[in-house]
Amino acid sequence: MARETIVVGNWKMHGLSAAREEALALSRMIETARETGGVRAAAVICPPFTLVADFARALSEDRIGVGAQDCHVAEKGAHTGDISAEMLADAGARFVIVGHSERRQDHGETDAMVNAKASAAMRAGLAPIVCVGEQLAERDAGAAERVVVGQVAASTPEGGAEAGLIVAYEPVWAIGTGRTPTLADVAAMHRAIRGALASRYGAEPAEAVRVLYGGSVKPANAAEILACEGVDGALVGGASLKAEDFFTIVEAAPAR
Ligand code: PGA
Repeated sequence: MARETIVVGNWKMHGLSAAREEALALSRMIETARETGGVRAAAVICPPFTLVADFARALSEDRIGVGAQDCHVAEKGAHTGDISAEMLADAGARFVIVGHSERRQDHGETDAMVNAKASAAMRAGLAPIVCVGEQLAERDAGAAERVVVGQVAASTPEGGAEAGLIVAYEPVWAIGTGRTPTLADVAAMHRAIRGALASRYGAEPAEAVRVLYGGSVKPANAAEILACEGVDGALVGGASLKAEDFFTIVEAAPAR
């Protein structure tokens, strides 16, 4: 099954209102490139919560989708400081990242919590982007595939294959470090993840799930990563903050 490539920008805790100029510039670049057939991937930006509603209003959805970086499991309630998936949908988001390694680390999020957040996203009509990835010590110990397959099995929600689930493989040691796995390692992990999704949802339904690579994706390595076997797109941190860099990555997606 041909899956449309998707390139998702994760702005993390970056972006004051002035940063909307970057998003608008990206939108203009995508519009121009679409007219000449130069863009083959869908683009999504996940800004901080404070910019979600503004971006959803300002950006044309067919050029750039808008997502958030986390959600609470409940629809509403006494949870000071939290944001529900329904609120994100109401603000115009269509995607939400859940279980990013920085949240697993900073907020002690477990696979079960990530699973519940992904289910909450689906309940609100959002496509969850479930992050998985091994630590460096786990890769060095030869345990990377076992760890990641276990995370996929436990973090992906019931019914995800029918609800636009996206999985992002992000080796923790590759995030923000400039280091990336070899293309052979990326391909091997994506094969393992596809296998885990087939066990979870059945081989055919699992074919609908897109599996992205994330971790130090930049203009210089985007083409080879996006062309790598089994890679359906990228989750991009640092390089998504500059319109030109992010556009170069979106433009690097191969024809499928
Ligand atoms: P990076 O971050 O592209 O800056 O390595 C990726 C991510 O954490 O999603």
